Amino acid sequence: MKIAFVGKGGSGKSSVSWLAIKTIESIGCSVLAIDADHNMDLTSNLGLDPERTPLMHKTDKEFMQEVGLTEPRQWSRLLNEDEMNLPTFTVSPMDSYTKSIAVKVSEKLSLINLGLGSPDVLFSDKCAHGLSGPLKYYLGLLNEGDDWVVIDSVAGTDMINFGLYSGIDAVIGVVEPHRNSVKVFEQINDICRKTMIPCYAVINKPTNNEFYTAFVSKYQNIILGEIPFDEKVMAYDFDTVTEKTKESVVEIINSIKSLDKRGNLISMQNFHTVKKSKA
Ligand SMILES: Nc1ncnc2c1ncn2[C@@H]1O[C@H](COP(=O)(O)OP(=O)(O)OP(=O)(O)O)[C@@H](O)[C@H]1O
Ligand SMILES: [Mg+2]
Repeated sequence: MKIAFVGKGGSGKSSVSWLAIKTIESIGCSVLAIDADHNMDLTSNLGLDPERTPLMHKTDKEFMQEVGLTEPRQWSRLLNEDEMNLPTFTVSPMDSYTKSIAVKVSEKLSLINLGLGSPDVLFSDKCAHGLSGPLKYYLGLLNEGDDWVVIDSVAGTDMINFGLYSGIDAVIGVVEPHRNSVKVFEQINDICRKTMIPCYAVINKPTNNEFYTAFVSKYQNIILGEIPFDEKVMAYDFDTVTEKTKESVVEIINSIKSLDKRGNLISMQNFHTVKKSKA
């Protein structure tokens, strides 16, 4: 299953990504964590130094070679290729490209840091979309089988509009019961609906207020669960996280397991067809 946690800045994306990854690891599944945000918090939450991890964005040339492109900035040409002509990336065992960019965190857990926030970005001539191009197509060509891929995202709608997640199975909005957190989720949900990307929600730090009540009543069909406020989360030591929190994340992971797998090159093509049709 390939999933990305999205939502408003500060809603809890990196914490929920971390909780999901550690939960998946604890139930014995292999998981590839992908840190696709500027602040590289997921990398830190997993106990790694973002300055000392390989950076995917630096491997443009290698990725071009993998997919058979000869000119830079022609990623969208991949949408015209017959899927059979393109490589398939895998988590376990790892294909050689994935191996070259992933850090092994533990037996079952590896991390790819895109590196949007690394100091060398200052000297790059690419914007965040350019830096994320290889990841976008990598995700569509990634066939994880029974393994998991969990992506921590840039806040807001920008990367959703860009189609970064058009090749994954579901985007999951992390929503706090506050006005603007709900607003950003609704913006994301709207883009996903229009572009046929399945979108779900997880309520983080629920409180019994008017936003919570309205959100639950409106989105009950797509809410996968709730994660309580747990001050132990802030320490990012999974052993100390409360049982209540762990149980809530297991329930969420079980719900995600039952979702359809649909992310591949065809779902990416569909996304771009919709975009073109409205242009
Ligand atoms: N369920 C929770 N219980 C307690 N604290 C939490 C919980 N979820 C997140 N936090 C805390 O809230 C703060 C924001 O969370 P986090 O960094 O995960 O948000 P984010 O959406 O990734 O932010 P950004 O948009 O900056 O990347 C952090 O201090 C984090 O430890
Ligand atoms: Mg974050």
